[in-house]
Amino acid sequence: MKKRRHAFLPNRWSHLLFILVPGCFILFLSGLVPFKKRTFLGEPTWSASDFPEAQFLWEHNNVNCTSIYHLDPVEIGKSLEIQKRNNIHSEDSNILALTANCQRYLQLRKYSDKPVSEEEYQFPLAYSLVVHKQAEMVERILHAIYMPQNIYCIHYDMKSSPKFINAVRSLANCFPNVFISSKLETVHYAHMTRLKADLNCLSDLVHSQVKWRYVINLCGQDFPLKSNFELVSELKKLNGSNMLESSRPSDLKRQRFAFHHELQDVSFEYSKMPVKTERVKDPAPHNIEMFIGSAYFVLSRGFVEHMQGNQLVNDFLAWSEDTYSPDEHFWATLVRVPGVPGEIPRSDPDFTDLMSKTRLVKWNYLEGNLYPPCTGRHVRSVCIYGAAELRWLIGYGHWFANKFDPTMDPILLKCLEEKLEQNQRELVRLASR
Ligand SMILES: *[C@@H]1O[C@H](CO)[C@@H](O)[C@H](O)[C@H]1NC(C)=O
Ligand SMILES: *[C@@H]1O[C@H](CO)[C@@H](O)[C@H](O)[C@H]1NC(C)=O
Repeated sequence: MKKRRHAFLPNRWSHLLFILVPGCFILFLSGLVPFKKRTFLGEPTWSASDFPEAQFLWEHNNVNCTSIYHLDPVEIGKSLEIQKRNNIHSEDSNILALTANCQRYLQLRKYSDKPVSEEEYQFPLAYSLVVHKQAEMVERILHAIYMPQNIYCIHYDMKSSPKFINAVRSLANCFPNVFISSKLETVHYAHMTRLKADLNCLSDLVHSQVKWRYVINLCGQDFPLKSNFELVSELKKLNGSNMLESSRPSDLKRQRFAFHHELQDVSFEYSKMPVKTERVKDPAPHNIEMFIGSAYFVLSRGFVEHMQGNQLVNDFLAWSEDTYSPDEHFWATLVRVPGVPGEIPRSDPDFTDLMSKTRLVKWNYLEGNLYPPCTGRHVRSVCIYGAAELRWLIGYGHWFANKFDPTMDPILLKCLEEKLEQNQRELVRLASR
């Protein structure tokens, strides 16, 4: 969740944004268009028999991703036509059906075909996936980032639907290195519980058998922009330092932790969220200097191990309980604490989201200025990417991006994954020569 662009906005909008710009929380508009034929575009390797509601499946090679990448007008035109359809999500129960027989599922999705280099085996990664709906997207993300040497923790929201929970559990059950977080939260928007979800996964991951080197958190609308091979070589260059946004907070952002917040029922979609009170909070314990960033991180193992059972971390966490969106200051602040493994020195300049490679997000008021216009659709200032952004996304240099939605543009997700698979295959081939 990132809400740091207030400087660019007229005041009245900035307050709206403060409340409304979602990270992983988004209302999908699909299904609201009543008279258009509902179409469903699954992955080409999902079997049609598991998706009975599909009225349209991939015909063989009906879109050429190489041409999409090169912005061929005919192929881009096809993707724009598909954007206009009434694309629907798959039912979560279909993902349950798809993964009910693991052997069949792993074969269909060709997991054993993923090439891995020796370097990647020697540098395992960990992931914390915090998700709450659309098992279809969880399956796509996992498929894109899965490697046998890595380890994956999935945290689902306790208030997710039983169908979603069953589908995600069934998916995890198909892999020895994918597990459900041993402790689950009921996650409320901008609340401590969002942060706790990641902390629960981190605690499980640090105690797992896999000696991972870095941990990355993702939500259900993220997708990778790098193959595992590329990611490993980038992470090696970090030399043990962490990668995340960490900036000095504006006065507006300071209010998030200067005042006591209370979880309250709110009338709109998030049902419960922290609401500011007039009660002033004490400053952070241990003279911690506050920084602000995003919920997204790439953390070294050393840093995560250091956090476990650390008094300062525990006190800071307890102090953060009644703040607004603590996930957006917790990591940004801790990484600046002197002496932590992979620290960003307090005196260093702001490390902004454009510098941090953790997440590429396209904000509509920076389009044309910092990057080309959204070719998908905006939902509350944030671009949901379209297929014509494939090349830009891959070329930008960030490691992951947000937001993706298969009902908005299924071609983009298919082509992005295809491109990453090609890169992986080519790089592993070159490395093994
Ligand atoms: C896709 O288009 C490229 C040229 O842009 C062509 O070389 C390639 O053969 C095409 N692939 C398929 C599967 O048609
Ligand atoms: C990597 O880190 C180690 C210890 O933190 C340091 O001695 C070394 O110079 C660093 N290497 C590079 C290339 O920055």
